[in-house]
Amino acid sequence: MLGCGGYLPDRIVTNAELAKQVETSDEWIIERTGIRERRVAAEGEKTSDLAIAASERALAKAGIGADALDMIIVATSTPDNTFPATATRVQAELGALKAWAFDQQAVCSGFVYALATADAYLRSGMAETALVIGAETFSRILDWEDRGTCVLFGDGAGAVVLRAEDGAGATSDRGILATDLNTDGRYADLLYVDGGPSSTQTVGKLRMHGREVFRHAIVNLAETAEKVIERAGVDASDVDWIVPHQANIRIIAGTAKKLGVPMDRVVVTVDRHGNTSAASIPLALVDAVESGRIKPGELLLMEAMGGGMTWGAALVRW
Ligand code: UT7
Repeated sequence: MLGCGGYLPDRIVTNAELAKQVETSDEWIIERTGIRERRVAAEGEKTSDLAIAASERALAKAGIGADALDMIIVATSTPDNTFPATATRVQAELGALKAWAFDQQAVCSGFVYALATADAYLRSGMAETALVIGAETFSRILDWEDRGTCVLFGDGAGAVVLRAEDGAGATSDRGILATDLNTDGRYADLLYVDGGPSSTQTVGKLRMHGREVFRHAIVNLAETAEKVIERAGVDASDVDWIVPHQANIRIIAGTAKKLGVPMDRVVVTVDRHGNTSAASIPLALVDAVESGRIKPGELLLMEAMGGGMTWGAALVRW
């Protein structure tokens, strides 16, 4: 990984502000989720705008120009339009005209899915340099009258630049060491948007059976994490940082506990960002890299679960 960058919209929405709109409280939200505030995109600010801003920062950190990119994946469930892919606008605005670009949709697992996809392209030799972005404007698909969901999500984008390099085949190699992806479509009704071009011809609103999703989360996340740890031939005690999807502090802490990783080795941004779906892992990564907590050579465990139901993990040496 050559570099990462993130972007958050300016507008901060606090729990207190939400408590004026729906029957909730700062205390309830903090206690049940760990969220204190979230960002909301400005009127007219699109998912692609957030993705472009994050990508420009990631490219600058990577020290390469957009013309060096072979491929761009935008992981998103809140695209600018039904089509073309949000990634096509990102490609044009960055001037990455050599790159093919497409969106990938695995909801909150989107970044892990996109990372695994890019990794497969790089390993096959089909691409040498890839830009992987998680970008969302979930504020646009929330039912702002449903207190069970509207307090949970936020907007933002994070991006990483990947380049294929020969490794020694050892666990000390830098980059993506192992990935694991899972889907169980039988649980699609637990978290979904009740609209779409082919069903209702509307955008729809997010619907979630939170308690049911929660029930699956820790078990699934610990399982996928254990799979990548085993696949890479390392031990859970070798993990320097968990960089988890930021849905709920209780899920983050429960998964870390199951893996035996102390909370001071877990990157937490859910308090400030809320759940930014596919953007949450790269935003957490950027937060920890830019504050100097994550250092080159450290072993990162990324894990996520979301609508689909989808879940997965990636083990990355930074
Ligand atoms: O990123 C994709 C994956 N998504 C997730 O991982 C989300 C997983 N789920 C969760 O994080 C949690 O289930 C929630 C945060 C959504 C809810 O927490 P919970 O502890 O599971 O609460 P609950 O749904 O069991 O609700 C408990 C009570 C209910 O009242 P009754 O029925 O017990 O009287 C809710 O109506 O809390 C009520 N409630 C609220 N109260 C105040 C639900 N939302 C709110 C709210 N403020 N915002």
